[in-house]
Amino acid sequence: MKIDYKKYPTPRMRHHTAPNLYVRFEDFKVLPRYYPPLQPTLDWSLYYSNKLPPNALDIGCGRGGFLLEYAMQFPEMNIFGLEVRKQAVEWIDDIITGETIQNAGVLWYNTSNGLSFIEDESLHSVFYFFPDPWHKKKHHKRRAFTINLLQELNRTLSPNGMLYLMTDVPEVDMYQQELLKLHGGFDFNYATDEEWILPRTDHENFSLKKDIPYIRAIVTKKFRSDI
Ligand SMILES: C[S@@+](CC[C@H](N)C(=O)[O-])C[C@H]1O[C@@H](n2cnc3c(N)ncnc32)[C@H](O)[C@@H]1O
Repeated sequence: MKIDYKKYPTPRMRHHTAPNLYVRFEDFKVLPRYYPPLQPTLDWSLYYSNKLPPNALDIGCGRGGFLLEYAMQFPEMNIFGLEVRKQAVEWIDDIITGETIQNAGVLWYNTSNGLSFIEDESLHSVFYFFPDPWHKKKHHKRRAFTINLLQELNRTLSPNGMLYLMTDVPEVDMYQQELLKLHGGFDFNYATDEEWILPRTDHENFSLKKDIPYIRAIVTKKFRSDI
């Protein structure tokens, strides 16, 4: 199946949304009015025709090119996208509904608030592709890749689950590797082209077009006895 994107005019979108939206819920004294709601639990029957929870998670799914393509290529998977820019979420949601894609869902959400709605050891694959780099040190706190997120990923990934990473910013790669080491519960390996049997993301296509090199890595959970 191929999506006819002409049916879905792309909204004009800024690269970033309001700075407040990257801040964790617990760091506010008063929660702003416009803020992605916390989601202690979710009713998966509203997202997937098979009513089962997701087994693949796309963190920071952006405009959803990867999410939608993955859902169509792997109909046996339920993929769930998290995205902090509301306009992007609404646009992807329109496509999911318009094309009747029954195994893709998307949520307006700040990933820094954790993954309480994802059950323990339920995820086969987690994708974290081309995160916003937030180059300035004072903006590092806006990065969603934190020890808290790693704890959540360690909890929600199945024993053989995999975390797939891509970035075109070497400093982000180093930062992620340092945090993974600090956490201690994962093994990190750069991925070869043969190992990478996934559709391309929107940002990946951009990097390829502009000849910008990027890294791909596959992170697995350590077995308890290895830790
Ligand atoms: C550079 S884009 C990459 C999009 C997509 N993964 C790709 O490869 O094309 C990074 C995306 O992450 C989203 N994002 C940044 N921080 C986030 C957060 N805390 N929670 C959810 N999404 C976030 C941004 O809004 C943006 O759409």
